[in-house]
This record gives sequence, structure tokens and C-alpha cells, in this order.
Amino acid sequence: MKPETRINRRREEFPTLASGIHLLSHSLGPVPRAARESMLAYYEAWEHHTSEDAWATSWWEMSAQVGDGIAQILGGNAGSVQIQPNASIALSSVLSCFDFTSSKRNKIVASALDFPSMQYVLDAQTPMGARVQIVPSDDGIAIPLERVLDAIDDATALVALSHVSFRSSFRVDVEAIVQRARKHGAWVLLDVYQSAGVVPLRASAWNIDFLIGGTIKWLCGGPACGYLYVRPDLQQQLQPRLTGWVAHAAPFDFAQPPMRYDNSVRRFAQGTPSIPALYSVLPGLQIIEEVGVETMRAESERRTEFMIDFALERGWKVNSPRDVNQRGGSVMIYVEDGPGMVKRLNERKVFVDCRPGVGLRMSAHFFNTDEEVHEAMEILAELISCQGNNILG
Ligand SMILES: Cc1ncc(COP(=O)(O)O)c(C=O)c1O
Repeated sequence: MKPETRINRRREEFPTLASGIHLLSHSLGPVPRAARESMLAYYEAWEHHTSEDAWATSWWEMSAQVGDGIAQILGGNAGSVQIQPNASIALSSVLSCFDFTSSKRNKIVASALDFPSMQYVLDAQTPMGARVQIVPSDDGIAIPLERVLDAIDDATALVALSHVSFRSSFRVDVEAIVQRARKHGAWVLLDVYQSAGVVPLRASAWNIDFLIGGTIKWLCGGPACGYLYVRPDLQQQLQPRLTGWVAHAAPFDFAQPPMRYDNSVRRFAQGTPSIPALYSVLPGLQIIEEVGVETMRAESERRTEFMIDFALERGWKVNSPRDVNQRGGSVMIYVEDGPGMVKRLNERKVFVDCRPGVGLRMSAHFFNTDEEVHEAMEILAELISCQGNNILG
């Protein structure tokens, strides 16, 4: 591996790291120590709500506060992110702004490497007149850019893709896709769940229309805190049918319909925000911001390169792109019995997961040391050689 970069890994702030080698940032990041205090602060505010109105003093503002923190990580401006219950709802919120029945522009372009939840939500739009074109992958690892670009035409309403794929870590070329979409009058949504917090994102500079994701992976937050970025100059044109009283311009008027959407990004909210989730993400977001995504990316490139080289030198099949410019922060290595190997690695205190047809998914984040990454790969080599399975690529 290239020499270790001197960065503050903040390891003491993640108690879970003492229990083994955590390579699971694509799934569930380790809990920051400060999350305990943050959750206690939530409990305190709840307990004392009668003497001090928790909604008035902090809770009502928290969605916007956390949204602005996430916006910064996405490369967007304050006021561009609305917290959502999860990424699936964030996508559903965007799709509920479209009327596919009354327009010839009814095509949605997606890819075979996207997370199934996205595909289910898109598929659910077909009874409402949408046509979904899934751009295929030949090898389950990557999709040629030309193939995505060719799918975008004058009938395309939305291009909705994973920025980084959960199954191979393949990363799409955002600029080229946005450029083609603009040319044909289509909007672009990226699922950045697997990139936010490890790949620098440039929402404003890309002029992207929508980003969706959540906080439990690379952002070291707790569950049930999804997010939706909407291009600021697009926000007021949209009226999501997936809505609720919190999206109203004057929610505390408790007015009768018709709905009067708020002028801010809050128009993409639904009902009562998930306050515990907001408390759970504050410490992780702060750490990510302090360490810096650019620093994390440099580390991640060095580690993914090492893991891939290590695997290829041993003839293993790598199910992630070799080209660093097409890669996120994870490395997928094929093994015959994924669940069995995950279990054996767990027994050796190496924590990874697997997906059918993909093999192991392994992700080093800023808090992992080089020794850990090295040790994890050596343990894997030992287990593969004991197993005697044919996993050669
Ligand atoms: C790329 C990607 N998108 C979406 C999801 C699911 O998001 P949610 O459960 O918040 O709907 C995942 C979860 O693993 C994911 O990896």
C-alpha cells in the first residue's frame, strides 16, 4: 500500500472499533461515542417538555439545521435539503411531483446497478403512465457511459440513478449525464447513499436537480434519517403529492385544503419529523465535516487500490471497477459461499457483509488504520486458502 497519510482518524470517538476491524461503512457505520450524549439530550428535552416547549426551543428547527449540515456535505447551499424518513420516501416524494399520464415525456431512465428499493419505487409509477427503461450492465460491475447517454431522449422526464452502486461500487459520470439530460429537457436524480461522506459531491456545481440518500452508512448517523436535495431554483415549481401538514406554508394554522406549499425546501416534508433520528446524526455529521470528505476520498482511493491489487495478485475475482475514477469507497470480492465467509471473518473479528452474486463487500473509512486493512486482507487470504474453493477470476 502507498504510505499511510497522516490524518486524525478520531478512533477514540468510535467505541465499536475496539471490537474488531469494521469494514461495513457501506451498510452501517460505527456509532460515534457522542451519539449517546446526543440521544440523552433528546430524552432530556422530551422529559422536560412540559416546562420548556421542546418543539419551540429546538425540535422544530432541527430538520432545517441537520438538512443544512447535509447540504454542505452534498456540495449544496443552505436551504437545499429536506430531511426524509428514508431514501425510498425521498425518491417517492420526487416522483409524486410528476404527472406521467398527461405528458409524452413519461420515460424514467434507471440502471441495473441501482438499489432494488429505487427500482421498486420506479416500477410502481408504471400504472401512473411512466415508462421505466433500465440500462443493463453486461458484467454486473459497470455500465458503459454511452449506454446511459443513449437512453436519454426527448421523452425522458427523469434520469434516476445510483451515483455509486451498492452492488459493485461503480460510480457514474455525473457531468456527462447532466449535460445530456439538459440537452433533452430531462431532470436528473442521483442516489448518493453510497457516495455522500466518502466521495466529494458538488450538487451546486453539477447543477443537479435532485439527490437522495441517508445517514447510516458513510455519514456515521443513526437510522431513519433520509434526505432530499432539490435544486434551489426548481423547488418552487414542484408540488409533491406525497405530502403532509409540515409541508404547508403555515402548518400551525391547521388550515383546510387546498394545500398551500411552503416556499422553502420544507415543501418536500410530510408529517412530524423523526426527532430521535435527527439527534442521532448530529455527532457523525460533525466528525465528517471536521475530517473533510476530500481527505477521506484520498484515503479511500489508496485503500481500495490496495485491496484490489491484493485480490488480483492472488487471482481472486474483483467485482468492482479497476478504474479509480469509476469507483466509490467499497471493494467487492467474489467468494463462493458469501454468508459462510462473512461468518468466518466475523469469528476472526473482521466485519464485512455480502450480497448474492456479488460476494463480499468491504469498505475502509477514514477511521480504519492501514494495519487493520492489511490484516483483514491477510485473514481473508488465509480463510480462502483453507476453504479450497474455486473463486479465481
Ligand atoms: C444505494 C442505496 N440506496 C438506497 C438504499 C436504501 O435506502 P432507504 O432504506 O433509506 O430507503 C440503500 C441501502 O442500503 C443503498 O445502498
